[in-house]
Amino acid sequence: MLKKTLVVAVVLTLAIGLGLFAVKAQSGDLEVFSWWTSGGEAAALQALFDAYAADYPDVNIVNATVAGGGGSAARPVLQTRLAGGDPPDSWQIHPGWELFGQYVDPGYVEPINFLYEEEGWNDVVPQGLRDIMTVDGNIYMVLVGVHRGNGFWYNKPLLEENGITIGDTLSAEEFTAAAETLQAAGIAPLCMGDNGIWANAQLFENTLLGTVGPENYMKLFAGEMAWDDPMVISAIESFGAMQDYLNTDHTSLSWDQAVKALMDGQCAFNSMGDWAYGEFVAAGKVDNVDFGWVSHPGTAGSFMIVADGFPLAAGAPNRDAAVGWLRTLGGLPAQEAFNPLKGSIPARTDADRSKFGVYHNWSMDSFAADALVPSWVHGSAAPAAFQQTLNDAVTLFIVDRDAAAFAAALVQGAVDAGIAG
Ligand code: BGC
Repeated sequence: MLKKTLVVAVVLTLAIGLGLFAVKAQSGDLEVFSWWTSGGEAAALQALFDAYAADYPDVNIVNATVAGGGGSAARPVLQTRLAGGDPPDSWQIHPGWELFGQYVDPGYVEPINFLYEEEGWNDVVPQGLRDIMTVDGNIYMVLVGVHRGNGFWYNKPLLEENGITIGDTLSAEEFTAAAETLQAAGIAPLCMGDNGIWANAQLFENTLLGTVGPENYMKLFAGEMAWDDPMVISAIESFGAMQDYLNTDHTSLSWDQAVKALMDGQCAFNSMGDWAYGEFVAAGKVDNVDFGWVSHPGTAGSFMIVADGFPLAAGAPNRDAAVGWLRTLGGLPAQEAFNPLKGSIPARTDADRSKFGVYHNWSMDSFAADALVPSWVHGSAAPAAFQQTLNDAVTLFIVDRDAAAFAAALVQGAVDAGIAG
C-alpha cells in the first residue's frame, strides 16, 4: 500500500515537473508593441521584460515601440499591421471602448478566460476592472497597472519660494490665486507639453471632471446629459482661462519634457496622469520633497482610470511565448516591479503595500474609496471617433477660444459616434 502511494507520488511529481517544464521551455521571438519610450516608461517596460526573462529565459524579446505619449502615433501603425495580417504577439491597450472597438470587434485578439481560471486572477483582479475587459463572457486582456489620470503635480520648492502652500486638496479658486501669484513673479503657472494634442485634451478632461463631478461625467458619456449643458460650457471657459497660464513653448514640448520643465523650476504645476510620477522616479526625485501632488482642481474624490494591459494576438506569431508573457504580466512579481517605476498601481489587490512609496499608497487609497471614472482621452470612455472629436475641438479652441463652437463640436461628435441620448 505504502509502495503504491509512493509510486503514485513519484509519477505525479514527475508529471507536474514535466508540465511546468513544458510551460517554461519556450523559445523564438516575442514581439511586444507599445508607446512606452519616455525615461520612466522605458524603465518600467524593462522591468516587465526582466520579469518575463526570469520566467522564460530562452525567448528573445523584440521591443517594438512607436514614440508619442498616449499612443496617438502608435495606434495607427498598429492598425495598419493588424489589418495587413502582421500582428505583434502582444501590444499595449486601454480597456473599455479602445479594447472593444479597435481590437475585439475586428477579431484581432483571442479570449484568455483560460488564463484567468488557471492563474486564479478572478479572485485578485477587481470585478470592475474585469468588466471593462470582458464582452459576452470573454475576457481579452491582462492589466499590468492602473494609472490615475487626474493628477496635479507641482514643484514643491518652487511653490515654497513663492509663498504658496498646498493642502490635501486644491480648489479651482485656490489654483487661480496661486497661478496669479506665480505669473506676477514671472513663472509660468502651468506646465504643458502638447506637441501631441492629447496632453492639452487631458487638461480639458480633468477640468471637465472637476467642474461637472463624476456622476455628470458618466451621464455625458451615457447620453443622459447634453454636451452643451451650461456646466460643460463652464468647464470649457475654465479650460480657456488655464491656457493663459501655460509655458510659452508648450506646443514644441512632449508631455515628459513638460514634466522635466516642472522639475527644473521653469513652470510650477502639471495636470497629468501619474505616468508623470515615473518621470520623477527616473530623475531620482523624492515624493513630497522635490515634488508634491493633489487631485486636479475639483476632482478630489474621483479616480480617472487610465489602465494599461496586453492581449493575446489572434494569429500571434509565437502564441506559446505570448501566453507566457501574459502569465508573467498578471503575476505579482511583475506587477510589484513595474508599477513603482511607472506610477500606476497594480491591477491585483493582493500586492504588498510596503513595497510601494507614499504616492502609490495614496493612489491605492483613492482607488479603493473614490468614484472610478474612465478616461476619454485615453480611449476607455468613448469610441475612438469621439476621442478624435475632442482632440480636434481642443486644437481649434486653443486658437479661437470659441466655447460655443467647442460644445457644438462635442454635441455633433457624440451623435456621429453613436453615444448621444
Ligand atoms: C498610457 C500610459 C502612458 C501615457 C503617456 C497613456 O495612454 O496609458 O501608460 O505612460 O499614455 O504615454
